[in-house]
Amino acid sequence: MGKRKATDNAGNPNQDICDFLMELANYERNVSKNVYKYNAYRKASGTLSTLTKRVKSGEEARKLPGIGPKIAQKVDEYLQTGKLRKLEEINKDENNVAINLLTRVSGIGPAKAKELVDAGIKNLDSLRKHQDKLNHVQKIGLKYFDDFEKKIPRAEIAEIEHIFKKYIHELSKEYVITICGSYRRGKEESGDIDVLITHPSYTSEERESKKKVDLLKNIVENLEKNKLITDTISIGPTKFMGVCRIPGDESKPFRRLDIRLVPYDQYYCAVLYYTGSDLFNKNMRAHALKKKYTLNEYTLKRLTEEGVPGEAEKITSEKDIFRILGLPYKEPKDRNA
Ligand code: CTP
Ligand code: MN
Repeated sequence: MGKRKATDNAGNPNQDICDFLMELANYERNVSKNVYKYNAYRKASGTLSTLTKRVKSGEEARKLPGIGPKIAQKVDEYLQTGKLRKLEEINKDENNVAINLLTRVSGIGPAKAKELVDAGIKNLDSLRKHQDKLNHVQKIGLKYFDDFEKKIPRAEIAEIEHIFKKYIHELSKEYVITICGSYRRGKEESGDIDVLITHPSYTSEERESKKKVDLLKNIVENLEKNKLITDTISIGPTKFMGVCRIPGDESKPFRRLDIRLVPYDQYYCAVLYYTGSDLFNKNMRAHALKKKYTLNEYTLKRLTEEGVPGEAEKITSEKDIFRILGLPYKEPKDRNA
């Protein structure tokens, strides 16, 4: 789960416009703390990133969903002058620039960034000298700042997947392992690696009976021993957050890795959810509600007349979920909407 990006289309003919809109979005989130404007700029950037042709004018942009008169005017100014006064003003203030930079460290949000800037810490060198002000997550974010900003090529994730399966299957052949997120949606590059694991012996009943499960701990320890996992950000019985790197190749960057252990009977709802995209999930949940079902990362349940969820449906594949909801099956690569 990376920081949210609205635009990552290869060969986007409006990339520069999307970039300045995202810069404005980040300013609104990090400095002004205006979530409304943040979302408005993100949405506009997302819309422009889906176009196959270069937008010619603000007026033309105005016709697109999510682009109102003010953003259209900025698009015009940029197209005519090649820059944006508002952004130039913002970037004249070194504190704004510093806050934006510090929020790029994984684990540092706008409030923490402001606190650091107020304490006079305005760049990464200075931050490295004041690590006492950082928690464990933020220290790891700083340590791997450059690497975490690099996209992960598909082939590298495929290699990691192979190593993963090899070592986890050493523990038990019955583990089911799926790398979800943008990788499963067929993207050529990903921001992080989202792994879901289940085992037939691990069911939601056991999860509820709070029977001690060391499954995830054992998996992580085995991957550490084999030099795939290099750092732990956090680990609980069902969720690991950390860092990995392909063993034996120090030229490769360190990558953000999340592993979730999911009960066997809830696996496909989780696979669907963590495959995304966010927007696809949102639409699917809305469709479920129309059909009087409630869908989340754990279960699919029918709603009673009063709108109360009943028993969980028995799901043994993603196709089951589509079928029960009366939807044609969509391959992961077709879920990028
Ligand atoms: N997800 C979510 N909310 C969370 C965590 C995860 O909705 N708190 C879901 C989203 O549907 C998302 C998927 O999990 O598609 C993976 O999240 P993330 O890694 O943030 O997005 P990706 O689509 O994998 O994109 P990236 O390449 O940037 O990792
Ligand atoms: Mn991801």
